[in-house]
Amino acid sequence: MKVLPATPTNIKQAAQVLRQGGLVAFPTETVYGLGANAFDPLAVARIFEVKQRPEFDPQIIHIASPEETSLIWSQQSELASRLIEHFWPGPLTLVCLKKENIPDIITAGLPTAAVRMPDHPVALALLKKAGLPVAAPSANLFGHLSPTTAEHVAEQLGPHIDLILDGGKTPIGIESTVLDLTGEPTLLRPGGVPVEEIEKIIGPLKMHPSSQKPLSPGQLPQHYAPRTPLVIIQGQFDFPPELKIGYLAFRSPPSKVRAARVEVLSSSGSLREAAANLFEALHRLDRANLDIILAEPLPEMGLGRAIMDRLRKAAAKPQSR
Ligand code: TXA
Ligand code: MG
Repeated sequence: MKVLPATPTNIKQAAQVLRQGGLVAFPTETVYGLGANAFDPLAVARIFEVKQRPEFDPQIIHIASPEETSLIWSQQSELASRLIEHFWPGPLTLVCLKKENIPDIITAGLPTAAVRMPDHPVALALLKKAGLPVAAPSANLFGHLSPTTAEHVAEQLGPHIDLILDGGKTPIGIESTVLDLTGEPTLLRPGGVPVEEIEKIIGPLKMHPSSQKPLSPGQLPQHYAPRTPLVIIQGQFDFPPELKIGYLAFRSPPSKVRAARVEVLSSSGSLREAAANLFEALHRLDRANLDIILAEPLPEMGLGRAIMDRLRKAAAKPQSR
């Protein structure tokens, strides 16, 4: 494990690690984040692997300047611009519609992306040097508290990440406030910027039910699930020949099923690669005008658990969009 003091030389090295697809833990003004290049789906999949999350949830993309939102969002409302002007850099995360080229694994398949510009010299120097937007959840194991020192990170994740930049204790110590701006402005998670401060600028906020519990991890209002009915394959099955079948395979196309469209998640059998491809594959199947999607079960270990969690949710309840 490598814990390095956040000197200019080490920040430069950390930026290099990010550009090469590695994982770097770094301090922000709220808590330590576990960062990966936001345009590298495999690196982002590794974040889930290292955190041992049994499910995918969307991640915040960190940027070095307000102008970089144009790399991520397809549109920015006047409201968003006003909030950015008042609170960035700072502990306010804004959710708006995303551009097509933002990998689906970052947003867990949602059409929106959460973005913030952190107010911490080390985070900003790292983002600037890397020259990339950086996806970063809090740098803790699933179910543990968010880390406010490099030691916390090292204890929980040390052996599994490439580099920890030690910038001392994070000044705020609780996560950023998360605000959804895709409709009526809605508080998704209370955090570093008090609601009252936000309401002074843009008027009353809608409260999402999950935001009432203070300091909760911030549950998502909804998850992406395909509209096409999805079934996880178990044992033998038979379908009427007139059904248009889509097939989500782990390693190789099916030999017995006559499918109109097939998506293979990872021909080498890598769960990381499968996770990185999952949401895009589901979106493609969903757009192919199929009657049903058959999904192969994956091994329930490591990222396989999060993949199966998502497939089960999709199988339980096709959502309307
Ligand atoms: O202060 C922070 O926000 C820290 C530092 C590292 O920046 N990060 C952090 O990340 O707390 P994380 O992954 O632990 O929490 C991200 C929150 C979750 O509640 C997630 O559901 C929400 O942001 N979120 C992310 N993208 C979203 C989206 N597209 N729509 C709705 N909620 C989103
Ligand atoms: Mg967290």
